[in-house]
Amino acid sequence: MPDHDPLDFAALWHSIAAQDSSGRHQAESDLAFWEENAQHFDQWHSDQEATSRAVAAVSGLITDDVWTVLDVGAGTGRFALPLAQQVDQVTALDASPNMLKVLRRKVNERGSKNIQIVQSEWAEFATAQRFDLVLAAWSMYRQPDIMQGLRKLVDMTDKLLVIVDGDGYQTPDRRLRREIWGGATKQTVPRAVLYLAILWQIGVRANVQTLWETRHTSGESLHELAAQLAPKDTTVAEREQFAERLAPFTNRDEDGTLHYQAQIPFSLITWRRHEDHAFLRAKGVTSTSPAP
Ligand SMILES: C[S@@+](CC[C@H](N)C(=O)[O-])C[C@H]1O[C@@H](n2cnc3c(N)ncnc32)[C@H](O)[C@@H]1O
Repeated sequence: MPDHDPLDFAALWHSIAAQDSSGRHQAESDLAFWEENAQHFDQWHSDQEATSRAVAAVSGLITDDVWTVLDVGAGTGRFALPLAQQVDQVTALDASPNMLKVLRRKVNERGSKNIQIVQSEWAEFATAQRFDLVLAAWSMYRQPDIMQGLRKLVDMTDKLLVIVDGDGYQTPDRRLRREIWGGATKQTVPRAVLYLAILWQIGVRANVQTLWETRHTSGESLHELAAQLAPKDTTVAEREQFAERLAPFTNRDEDGTLHYQAQIPFSLITWRRHEDHAFLRAKGVTSTSPAP
């Protein structure tokens, strides 16, 4: 039995975070991770369909009345840079100096004049301003208090809040990795599902849309595919077992190249302040259109 109320999704989030062996839920180790990996981040994502799909999806939500954007955990600006071409002002907030260094370089290269870069922990960021659009893409995994973190996103949203994150789906290769190497690989957390539920817990009724990305790996042989997808430093026998079990999920094209494709869902959570009747009623705002 869980040691918390089963409907206390925030407590569940914290309990999962506490069990995470990567340490990335802690500020210190997460910052160290980005200090080491900021230079590689853009490269990791350059060939991933999710990047462009998610950016296009958020970009498609920008309407004529959206002038200001707050991008929480903006990283190297995957979203902030393209969004800055659509709106008047983007505030790109991130705790990692190295991620922001990459963003600053890109801002200077492009001569973007309307991106304000803020280095801060989300929990420590204070402003009286509200933003037309508040965005948090793959960036809410580390919060001292997840309920407060999400509530703050809501409070700073003037029109539209967008949270983008994974839903915990395990691709066949990840499932195999777990079966063969067990604890050597990380449990995936249905973050988006939990954010939706925690928003519900604080009285905010959000919408969720599932988008799919395709991850593609190819090689001349099963052995080559396994070398790309299996964890490093594993025995030849283990890797062969992995390759053999991956075989049913692969196909060979006319040129003889072997392909493995994984379809991965991720979620786009959206909330529009003026549409949330329950939220407005709870806040004592009655001047909007009547609740259904
Ligand atoms: C996976 S990256 C995503 C970056 C960007 N949103 C994107 O989708 O490309 C997560 C980013 O969130 C930042 N981040 C995580 N937790 C944070 C926090 N509590 N306060 C501020 N930034 C945070 C990290 O420093 C990192 O740059």
